[in-house]
Amino acid sequence: MTTSQTEAPDGQAKRISVTVNGRVYHRSVEPRMTLADFLRDELGLPGTHIGCEHGVCGACTILFDGKASRSCIMYAVQADGHDIHTVEALAEGEKLHPLQEAFAKHGALQCGFCTPGFLMTALEFIEHHAEPSDEEVRLALSGNICRCTGYQPIVQAVKAAAAARREKSKD
Ligand code: FES
Ligand code: FES
Repeated sequence: MTTSQTEAPDGQAKRISVTVNGRVYHRSVEPRMTLADFLRDELGLPGTHIGCEHGVCGACTILFDGKASRSCIMYAVQADGHDIHTVEALAEGEKLHPLQEAFAKHGALQCGFCTPGFLMTALEFIEHHAEPSDEEVRLALSGNICRCTGYQPIVQAVKAAAAARREKSKD
């Protein structure tokens, strides 16, 4: 367990305990700090990207108690007592998560800025949709914006990851 040195200058810092990627962190945070900034700057997890900062682009998507959520429009204090997973939780050491493998195989990323958000949205989606159609995938990902516009490979990658998950469940 780690203790932060951070205290808000006005003395308003709030003490929070949050589980991120299976590890419990205790920190004092300024009440207006966003969850995205907390993850990146306080916990050193830069995989969560910040794009629009208005809840529109989906780049900052994380799993909050298992639900895909936008960390740029949440405050760090709201995470007190909750369970968060970021894109850093996907790979196990050198071994990529099947979703990441599918994105690589299908060329589902160009600059990669949007990719963490797509991955975390897709992660929750394929847990609940074993055999999704193109339309279902597109709808699920409709809140994530890719400025490189590589949507078709992303849809293919998500379907491939869902198929790999189906196959694995037969083992
Ligand atoms: Fe959070 Fe765009 S940075 S939705
Ligand atoms: Fe560049 Fe999506 S790959 S923004």
